[in-house]
Amino acid sequence: MSNETIISVSRENRIFRPSAEFQRQANLGNQATYKKLYAESVNNPERFWRTQALKELVWRKPFRDVLKWSPPHAKWFAGGKLNVAENCLDRHMGTARENKAAIIFEGEPGDVRTITYRQLLFHVNRLAHVFENLGIVAGDRVAIYLPMVPEAIIAMLACARIGAVHTVVFGGFSAEALKDRINDCKARLVITADGGWRRGKVVELKATVDKALEGAPSVQTVLVLRRCKNAVHMHNGRDVWWHEAWEGAPNRHEAKAFDSEHPLYILYTSGSTGKPKGVLHTSAGYLLGAKLSAYYVFDLKENDRYFCTADIGWVTGHSYVVYGLLSNGATVFIYEGAPNQPEPDRLWRMIDRHGITILYTAPTAIRAFMRWGDNYVLRHRLDSLRLLGSVGEPINPEAWMWYYTLIGKKRCPIVDTWWQTETGSIMITPLPGVTPLKPGSGTLPFFGAAPKIVDDEGREVPRNTGGKLVITKPWPSMLRTLWGDDARFRKAYWSPLLGNGDCYITGDGARQDKDGYFWIVGRIDDVLNVSGHRIGTAEIESALVSHHAVAEAAAVGKPDDLKGQSLVVFVTLKAGLQPCDKLKEELRAHVGKEIGPIAKPDQIRFTAALPKTRSGKIMRRILKEIAAGGEVKGDTTTLEDFSVVTSLIANEE
Ligand code: PRX
Repeated sequence: MSNETIISVSRENRIFRPSAEFQRQANLGNQATYKKLYAESVNNPERFWRTQALKELVWRKPFRDVLKWSPPHAKWFAGGKLNVAENCLDRHMGTARENKAAIIFEGEPGDVRTITYRQLLFHVNRLAHVFENLGIVAGDRVAIYLPMVPEAIIAMLACARIGAVHTVVFGGFSAEALKDRINDCKARLVITADGGWRRGKVVELKATVDKALEGAPSVQTVLVLRRCKNAVHMHNGRDVWWHEAWEGAPNRHEAKAFDSEHPLYILYTSGSTGKPKGVLHTSAGYLLGAKLSAYYVFDLKENDRYFCTADIGWVTGHSYVVYGLLSNGATVFIYEGAPNQPEPDRLWRMIDRHGITILYTAPTAIRAFMRWGDNYVLRHRLDSLRLLGSVGEPINPEAWMWYYTLIGKKRCPIVDTWWQTETGSIMITPLPGVTPLKPGSGTLPFFGAAPKIVDDEGREVPRNTGGKLVITKPWPSMLRTLWGDDARFRKAYWSPLLGNGDCYITGDGARQDKDGYFWIVGRIDDVLNVSGHRIGTAEIESALVSHHAVAEAAAVGKPDDLKGQSLVVFVTLKAGLQPCDKLKEELRAHVGKEIGPIAKPDQIRFTAALPKTRSGKIMRRILKEIAAGGEVKGDTTTLEDFSVVTSLIANEE
């Protein structure tokens, strides 16, 4: 996409200044402190990060160098050794946090569990022994496919404790998607549950794992948590019940120290080609980024109760449910199920029930709450809330105002946090009580983040001009590579055009306003953002063409009030086959099976041909325009056959 198509239509100019009351207690104090610390963090990053790393992390062996940068490869805190789980748990023992709640959990049926830091440490230690007894050693990959229950967090931390590399796969992904991820990283162990609760029904996770493992030979053991008590088939010699393995394991576990750059996790995310990318994060730099940002962005206080609605299967769950929050000794509330079960006021009910003070959620969820109606909100007091957060996609000003007024009662600042799976931690964000807010803008960069907006040649564009969002300096929580595919890592994120190859390309379009505030417009590559989830068009297309009836497919996004973007696919059928509604349903179900329900197309349009360039490339821009409502405006001179477009428009649905 060229620069002129990256236009930002937002003309929002309201400003919300922090209240004196919030400012007085804010962790960062005031704007002058932000400016001073930010300037130091980008002008003298080594000094800034050295100070922070020494202050924030518990080291077993001190590091030598702050940064070794050989673009695009960074090594942060080389020579240092630490244990990530110890930094989240053991460090709080013997302090006032030892008996503080680490996790408060509410299951969808309404069951509640509170786990203190001391208890959490015991759980993690026991599971670390279980892993070791199963022969898992440092560097082995462990796939986690669990519902949003405390054991998901326990499993992640137990991996970190023994240096095993976890890859959490969202419980909504299909057997195919799970199999691909397991095979890509050759996981030896899979951790799952009999099932999880969703909208009053059991999602049968174990059955999905069984199916995935028919084609995943690397897996030796499946550890199964009992959650819903639904019937499961246990494979002899492969499957082990969590509660049985756990029995008798010691509460204490000697944690080994690992290098700063020891891999912590792989998280698969969508890219612009069919195969998901295994983003690799390592230990010390990642943890420092997550910890520092959580402290300042969420203005964490000892008695906060923090609720992030993201599932553990996404990066938000990694950084801002687990690592960033527990390393700060915070109390994290997690919820297993759907936000409208049994009624659309579930979240507000839980906020009052548990005295939640900070809520971090996604614009797509906010828009769903708006649609369900204010009455569901007004039934509840919500007076414990003091701070709100948004993540995952641009928040439209209307949703921002609703969130601010109805949920925050004009009392709570909103932190609109921009970041990605690849960045590991928040990069552009307001600091609450410090940064004046503009609805829809992520505002200003966080410490150490050096974003810039550039044109196709890598030149910085003037203020209020759209361009590509890039990051010009390495930062501690940045991805290190793509698992098993360093060539793709270079190609996908580092362009030789920009800054001699040492500029990170985010894939987002954005502009900066006259105050330097960042406004993110959305993706500029072939990646869609549907309900805050990244979906690669190529993945959808390859799922569709794997169906026997499909000859060719093109997936595009269409603006959608609720989901941000909805997914429209154009499909040509194999010769002799006739389009029909039954086939549409079959194709939707097929994509659901191949990838998971989140990727099911909202609309399927059959067509005799797809618009292509003379070289045979599908012209998605044209399909996007057709999907959005008809008229084709841009240049069509490269189109091979214009009649294709005419007939597509004529077949408007
Ligand atoms: O397009 C941006 C959008 O989500 C993408 C990253 O998706 P993912 O790696 O799945 O991580 C989501 C959670 C961090 C970005 O490239 N995005 C994320 N947060 C925002 C956003 N767009 C606008 N404003 C945000 N606050």
